[in-house]
Amino acid sequence: MNRTFRPGAPVRGTLVPPPDKSLSHRAALLGAMSAVPVRVTNYLDAADTRSSLDAVRALGALVGARDARAVTIRGPGLRGARPGVAIDVGNAGTLLRLLPGWLAGQPDEGRWTLDGDASIRRRPVDRVAEPLARMGAELRARDGRFTPLEITGRALQGIEYAMPVASAQVKSCVLLAGLLADGATTVVEPEPSRDHTERLLAAAGAAIGREGDRVTVACQDELLLDSIHVPGDPSSAAFHAAAAALVPGSRLVVDGMAANWTRVGFFRVMQRMGAVLIGDLEDRASAAADSEPVCELDVAYGPLVGTRVTADEVPLAIDELPLVALLGCFAEGETVVEGAQELRVKESDRIATVVAGLRALGAEIEATADGFAVRGTGGLRGGVLDAHGDHRLAMLGAVAGLASRDGVAVVGFEAAAVSYPGFAADLAALTG
Ligand code: S3P
Repeated sequence: MNRTFRPGAPVRGTLVPPPDKSLSHRAALLGAMSAVPVRVTNYLDAADTRSSLDAVRALGALVGARDARAVTIRGPGLRGARPGVAIDVGNAGTLLRLLPGWLAGQPDEGRWTLDGDASIRRRPVDRVAEPLARMGAELRARDGRFTPLEITGRALQGIEYAMPVASAQVKSCVLLAGLLADGATTVVEPEPSRDHTERLLAAAGAAIGREGDRVTVACQDELLLDSIHVPGDPSSAAFHAAAAALVPGSRLVVDGMAANWTRVGFFRVMQRMGAVLIGDLEDRASAAADSEPVCELDVAYGPLVGTRVTADEVPLAIDELPLVALLGCFAEGETVVEGAQELRVKESDRIATVVAGLRALGAEIEATADGFAVRGTGGLRGGVLDAHGDHRLAMLGAVAGLASRDGVAVVGFEAAAVSYPGFAADLAALTG
């Protein structure tokens, strides 16, 4: 489906962003692992997170939904995943990477197969298979690194694992396996990444602790989690916030957004670029240990200056880096993102697709080995942008259209439904 986004109207009003995707995936999985029923409020109703509910159902959870956003999960518990099922993760990389952590340590040699769509089949699973194998897990991946991934439950040993890349998915997978492994399991992070799994495990009563860059979890008899509230998704709100920063006359309030400091790096970058942005984002120094703070943000149009996003900031803004490139097109001077080679293994190769996509709209942008460099030219002409089946590319194209001179036709706009089915309607409401 092609959809055209035209320039003109400023972004004005209040946005309640959709529920957070990362937290919804985790709520489904940890809900199924809990020994008591879990009530999840504000669960994201989107393609990716429906895959997670389908997966836990297949693994033996009873999932009751009073409405799409209030879901009760009665799980099979930490060691009770139903064996012998094939799981279709759809397009969900987070589900693909987290689920093996739960399944690998199941008793009685149960077997599972994980597979997904064409994009999932291009995304590496060796990053989780490798540490799990060190814990004693039995896994088989196509060519050693792709789905289908076969898992057989085995007794696991705790390990200390220094992650080669800062990935919250890998960290979460190893920590989940650690709940079932003998002894302690420690993950050492090269840079901090989103810590939703750690906060939820602490809330579930697990013995989990952090010392500097080391997170350690111990073997658990059970998890006890009775309710989870999912706040608004900063990665979804980022699109409207960027539109507000780019279109003159805009003034946007974002209500109920997750403020977790490991998720809001993009908003810090926006502030540094000169966007007018006020909000009670969480500070690293005062971060919560077992809960998710929520904030209100106020964003207005303002002239932007180029910036450099360095490797330590990348995991804190990983899914919003395409928007940094877009802001860079409108900023004075150069905007550079470095240390972001992980973008190559997202829903698309986001270094290649962002550079090709924005170039087609008139941007002066170059790919580098680990990111991109943009020369600000004061705006974008517009044209046609191909989403390549990537939800964040589809929404990037829409925001670019709004801020461009001639508008943007987004090819494959339907991909947005992976994380944000109501995106176009929300944007239309905010632009009158
Ligand atoms: C996610 C972590 C990130 C992010 C993805 C969601 C998560 O991936 O890009 O969209 O929920 O843990 P990596 O941890 O692999 O960087």
